[in-house]
Amino acid sequence: MAEAKTVFIKTYGCQMNVYDSGRMADVLARDGYEVTETAEGADLVLLNTCHIREKAAEKVYSELGRIRQMKNAARAAGREMKIAVAGCVAQAEGEEIVARAPAVDVVVGPQSYHRLPAILQRAARDGHAVETEFPAENKFDHMPPVGSARTSRSVTAFLTVQEGCDKFCTFCVVPYTRGAEVSRPAGRIVEEAERLAAQGVREITLLGQNVNAYSGEAPGGRWSLARLLERLSDVPGLERLRYTTSHPRDMGDDLIAAHRDLPALMPYLHLPVQSGSDRILKAMNRRHRRDDYFRIIDRLRAARPDLALSGDFIVGFPGETDDDFEDTLRLVEAVGYAQAYSFKYSPRPGTPAAEAAAHVPEAVKSERLTRLQALLERQQKAFNGTMRGRVVDVLLEKPGRRPGQIIGRSPWLQAVQVDAPAEMIGTIVPVRIVEIGSNSLFGAFEENREPMRATA
Ligand code: 5AD
Ligand code: SF4
Repeated sequence: MAEAKTVFIKTYGCQMNVYDSGRMADVLARDGYEVTETAEGADLVLLNTCHIREKAAEKVYSELGRIRQMKNAARAAGREMKIAVAGCVAQAEGEEIVARAPAVDVVVGPQSYHRLPAILQRAARDGHAVETEFPAENKFDHMPPVGSARTSRSVTAFLTVQEGCDKFCTFCVVPYTRGAEVSRPAGRIVEEAERLAAQGVREITLLGQNVNAYSGEAPGGRWSLARLLERLSDVPGLERLRYTTSHPRDMGDDLIAAHRDLPALMPYLHLPVQSGSDRILKAMNRRHRRDDYFRIIDRLRAARPDLALSGDFIVGFPGETDDDFEDTLRLVEAVGYAQAYSFKYSPRPGTPAAEAAAHVPEAVKSERLTRLQALLERQQKAFNGTMRGRVVDVLLEKPGRRPGQIIGRSPWLQAVQVDAPAEMIGTIVPVRIVEIGSNSLFGAFEENREPMRATA
């Protein structure tokens, strides 16, 4: 038996990092580490980082400053605290992290998590260790089964099915930090989903930087994402499926049909378009025009009329004029989003757009972002408003803030607060929406009522 040690993991960035943090906990559990909820007193502090925008990357260094003080305090008290940096900043900056923050013991890229125990040992011997290679072996084949770490399992889970990106949008670091597109074999994903369902998970979100480009080995030929979703909808206990993030170019016919044919596939889709201007879409190397996006959405809505859409937008991409930005606003008006993320363009080292001549001034970016966010917020409010008085299916997930209150999610990913007994966590119940808050909906559990499918 390995001696008991504790690890504190802090996760930044996207859902893939949330999934990875869980899997690193699984790997470390094999080495005797237990997950702890506070950094103070931990034997290992692990930051799982994000490099997508400058702000996200810089946060890591300020956090490292704080943790270094804890490490010094631990040392003064005769204890050792190791610091590890994982994730996309680790991949992008490697040795530079140790140069800038010498208290860091380990730097490990997203493709080497399965080697964490060995890397920690190397750091103990050599002072520090940096591993950012893309190893020949696949990490998924060398990790213990999901759920090896005894963290409390919720009723929803993420499951990475695809990693990396071959699209090379000119603003984006992902093809460099996560590498080329790789899909996990279908059988392994089904096994993992079955294991999660047996642990009480009712809803799985399939993850990939380009999840709808999924093409996984399977007996008898490769499976598309649609085929995988169809198979997963047969897993006993799994009631709900979602997937994210998708690229418009990979929205295949069979995937659109899956939204019509699979009741377990929730009517909510994150389909980033980034800009509504053809000129900017071209400069971003998105490889589709705004009309292509409209056509895809028409087809999706024909397949699933109550489908709600979410998206990502970048304002102030190099060369973006007022007219280009107006095109984005018009696209948003035309689509009507239930939810969306929007960002000011942030030049990332090593990406083509960062080298562009015509950078948009910060003040202009800020003004555009404010206008876009006001519009998106109005749309989100309008969407939530359509729920008032309806009875919707809610998957009850966890206790709420007040005793007797449970927080769940609607099919459209809205948080719903409901008064219901705690034993009902993990079930899907009909809830009448009585009030619309700014962050969640409030509902009353409707006994003896069949849920209706609300149409937005
Ligand atoms: N600047 C601003 N936003 C970016 N995103 C990706 N790269 C950048 C960047 N350099 C946004 C995109 C993407 C989301 C995950 O982050 O909108 O879809
Ligand atoms: Fe980045 Fe997504 Fe483009 Fe890939 S498809 S480069 S992840 S924005």
